[in-house]
Amino acid sequence: MIECKNITKTYKNGETETDVLKGISFTINDGEYVAIMGPSGSGKSTLMHILGALDSPTSGTYFLDGRDVSKLSDDELADVRKNKIGFVFQSFNLLSRATVMRNVTLPLLYSEVPKQKREMLAKDALTSAGLEEGRWNHLSNQLSGGQMQRVAIARALVNNPSIIFADEPTGNLDSKTGEIVLDTFQKLNEHHAHTIVLITHERYVAEHADRIIHIQDGLIIEDKENSAKRVATLHHTHETT
Ligand SMILES: Nc1ncnc2c1ncn2[C@@H]1O[C@H](COP(=O)(O)OP(=O)(O)O)[C@@H](O)[C@H]1O
Ligand SMILES: [Mg+2]
Repeated sequence: MIECKNITKTYKNGETETDVLKGISFTINDGEYVAIMGPSGSGKSTLMHILGALDSPTSGTYFLDGRDVSKLSDDELADVRKNKIGFVFQSFNLLSRATVMRNVTLPLLYSEVPKQKREMLAKDALTSAGLEEGRWNHLSNQLSGGQMQRVAIARALVNNPSIIFADEPTGNLDSKTGEIVLDTFQKLNEHHAHTIVLITHERYVAEHADRIIHIQDGLIIEDKENSAKRVATLHHTHETT
């Protein structure tokens, strides 16, 4: 469970101070599918970095599963990032000249998981992310954008994290391919009970979630159930996108 209270973030560059987050409070329960929506520059990525324990707030408190993240030791933080949280980014961030398998097993390299088990977990993650088996040994730069994003989702899933943060995951994809990726998040939420936090500047994308937190200029202007939930009707079993 994510609980943040009055989170602020101020960036200082020399003399200039920019207040990016101005007091953000909300709770996200386990198993929710939430979109954080707002225009470019509204502070979405800044907020995601804080929620993902990659950055700390200037003030306010952030509790993750009942633990104050600001009080965690470096080891505990590393453990949270490794085991509790998966990230998916707009630009996929894959190793382009490594195979799909290598990209997906990478997060397990520094764990004590034996090699065979790593491959098994990677295969499960790739299956959940909807990438067909024929691509698993391709180099990631031989894939389409939609396939790359599915590899990135598999990489985020391989540690079986409870929460997936996706920052503009459809930003580099055409709308049909974006829809397939959104369908994947829907399935992960529905069938595997992952908490999904989907970050987007597009209402159309946000409407795939069950709840929309709307932020503008570093403040929440609306936080409510999404009554216009969109469900992708696409089936991606044999998609080549
Ligand atoms: N490291 C930084 N230093 C200074 N300003 C930053 C930094 N990161 C982001 N900002 C500023 O914070 C604002 C919000 O950025 P961001 O969180 O990336 O917004 P969004 O993801 O909603 O587009 C922007 O005006 C951006 O220029
Ligand atoms: Mg952003």
